[in-house]
Amino acid sequence: MSNPFPLSIAKGEDFCNRKAEKERITHNVNNIIHTLLVSPRRYGKTSLALKILQEAELTYAYIDFFMALTPEKIVTRIINGINPTISKLLPKTKRAIRQIEDFFKSLRVGLQLGQANMEFSLTPINQDGAKTIWDLFEGLDQLAQKENKKVIVFMDEFQDIIHTSLCDDIEAAIRHVAQKTSNLIFIFSGSSRHLLSKIFDDKSRPLYKLCDRLNLERISRKHYEQFIQTAAKHKWQGALANDVLEQIFSYSKYHPYYVNVICSRLWRQRLIPKVTDVVNTWSQYAEEEFGAVAKELDALTTNQRLILQTIAQLGSVKEPTAQAFLQLVKLAHGSITQAIQSLTQKDYLYKTSNGNITLVDPLTAWVLIQ
Ligand SMILES: Nc1ncnc2c1ncn2[C@@H]1O[C@H](COP(=O)(O)OP(=O)(O)OP(=O)(O)O)[C@@H](O)[C@H]1O
Ligand SMILES: [Mg+2]
Repeated sequence: MSNPFPLSIAKGEDFCNRKAEKERITHNVNNIIHTLLVSPRRYGKTSLALKILQEAELTYAYIDFFMALTPEKIVTRIINGINPTISKLLPKTKRAIRQIEDFFKSLRVGLQLGQANMEFSLTPINQDGAKTIWDLFEGLDQLAQKENKKVIVFMDEFQDIIHTSLCDDIEAAIRHVAQKTSNLIFIFSGSSRHLLSKIFDDKSRPLYKLCDRLNLERISRKHYEQFIQTAAKHKWQGALANDVLEQIFSYSKYHPYYVNVICSRLWRQRLIPKVTDVVNTWSQYAEEEFGAVAKELDALTTNQRLILQTIAQLGSVKEPTAQAFLQLVKLAHGSITQAIQSLTQKDYLYKTSNGNITLVDPLTAWVLIQ
C-alpha cells in the first residue's frame, strides 16, 4: 500500500478536502473569471490547482515559471505548457499543422514525441521573445475559439516573471487576451505575496484587478481529523488516539507540508503510533533540518531574529507595537515596525484571518524556541 502523505503534489486519494476552494475556483472557471491563488510556500497551491484541472475535465495548459529567470526560459516554459494543449484540441494531421501555423504566426509547427504520444511542437521563428509571447497567448485563444472549447491556463510560480525583461510584455499580452476572451480562463499562482502584489495590485500595471484573489489558508482541523483517521483505519484497522492527533497538530500547526512530513514517517510504522512516536519523529526530523534552518536564520538581522523568536515563544501577537511587546523585545517602536515589515515580505511572518501575526513555518518556530 502506498504512503498517503506525499511530500510532493497531493493527488487522488491523497488530497484532503479543499471543497470550498474547489467550488470557488470551479465557479470562476465556469464564468470566465480569472483567479489569483496565493499562499505562503508549501500550503498546497499546486496540488489544489492541478486537482481542479483534472476534475474539471476541460483542456488545460500548465505553465510553470519556477526559476524561469531568462527571456529564453520564459518562452520555452510557455511553449512547453501549450504544446500538449494544442495536441488535445486538434487531430494530428497535415491540415491541422497548417491551421496551427495560421494561429501562431511567429512560430513553426512540427510533431514530436510527447509524454506518451506524438504531439504538436511549436518553435519560435525569430529571436523576438515579446512578439512570440503575444502570438502564443493570442494564438491559443483563437484556436480555442475556433474549436469552441474552454481552456484553463494555469501559470504556477507566476511571480518569477518579474525577474526578466519580458515581464511587461507577458503582463500586457495576458491582459489583452484575458479581457476579451470567452474561451481562456487564467489561474495564476505563487508564493511571494510581496512580488505578486507588485504585479496584481499596482494601478499602473496591466494585470491590476484582473482576478478574483483567493488566499489559501491551512487545512482545517476538522478536515484533517477525518482524513488522517480514514488513512489510519486503512493502515492499522483502527483510529489514532486523540492525544496522538493533538501532538501531530501541535507540531505541524495544520501546515499541509508538515502534516505530511510527520504522517509520512509515522505511516512507515508496523504498529499504530503512540504520542512518543510522534515526539520522536518530530525530534529526529528537526535535528536533520536544524542546520538548514539555522543557516536561513543567519541571514536575518539580530533585531529580526529577536522579534521572530519572541513571536515564536508567544505563539502569535496581535499588536507588536503595544507596550507589552515593546518591553519584551526592548526595541524602539520604529525598529519593530521595520523588522516586522521585512519579515512579512520575506515570508517569515503572516497575518492570520483573525488579525494575529504569527510565524509561517512551524519548524522555524520550533528551532527558535529550543
Ligand atoms: N489538499 C491536500 N491534502 C493533503 N496534502 C496536501 C494538500 N495540499 C497540499 N498537500 C501537501 O502539502 C505539501 C505542499 O503541496 P504543494 O506543493 O501543492 O504546495 P505549494 O503551495 O504549491 O508549494 P510551493 O510554494 O513550494 O509551490 C505537499 O507535501 C502536498 O502533498
Ligand atoms: Mg507549488
